Amino acid sequence: MTGWLAAAYPWIKSIHIISMVAWMAGLLYLPRLYVYHATVPVGSDRSATFKVMERRLLRGIMNPAMVATWFFGLALAGTPGIVEWRMGWIWAKLALVAGLTAFHGLLTRWQNDFSADHNTHSTRFFRAVNELPTLALIGIVLLVVVKPF
Ligand code: HEM
Repeated sequence: MTGWLAAAYPWIKSIHIISMVAWMAGLLYLPRLYVYHATVPVGSDRSATFKVMERRLLRGIMNPAMVATWFFGLALAGTPGIVEWRMGWIWAKLALVAGLTAFHGLLTRWQNDFSADHNTHSTRFFRAVNELPTLALIGIVLLVVVKPF
């Protein structure tokens, strides 16, 4: 099993990177949709359009991309010789990924609120939270590539 994983390593890493790009695209774009959605009147045609865009992005792209990122990331972590578990970078990376996963959960809650016309957050709030995935992405890429500790 682990020999097969080692042979497939470059392929698994490629799929991991492709799925993380799709997931990140959604984590960066969905709060941006909320920024605009929060400014339009409840019940308007524009609000209905945003609801469709948000639901499709979350269900059609972000949920499968998150599952694939986790699945192939854990496969990499289980490949012999790839992760030195005494190093700090992998734990720091996993902490940031846990944060992104929690953020995904919050975006899902806000999508449900918008779809039920119960959003309580302002445009300013969504503008501020929109910065969080960017910071996590910078941290994660530096950790996996530079492995500073
Ligand atoms: C979901 C849980 C995740 C796990 C368990 C995981 C684990 C791993 C492991 C073990 C590697 C191989 C490291 C190496 O070859 O030295 C890797 C590579 C990588 N991961 Fe993840 N990862 C996860 C999520 C993410 C996320 C969310 C991102 C980006 C936001 C990301 C970005 C990368 C990148 C860019 C690489 C390639 C690094 C290189 O070329 O050496 N990973 N991941």
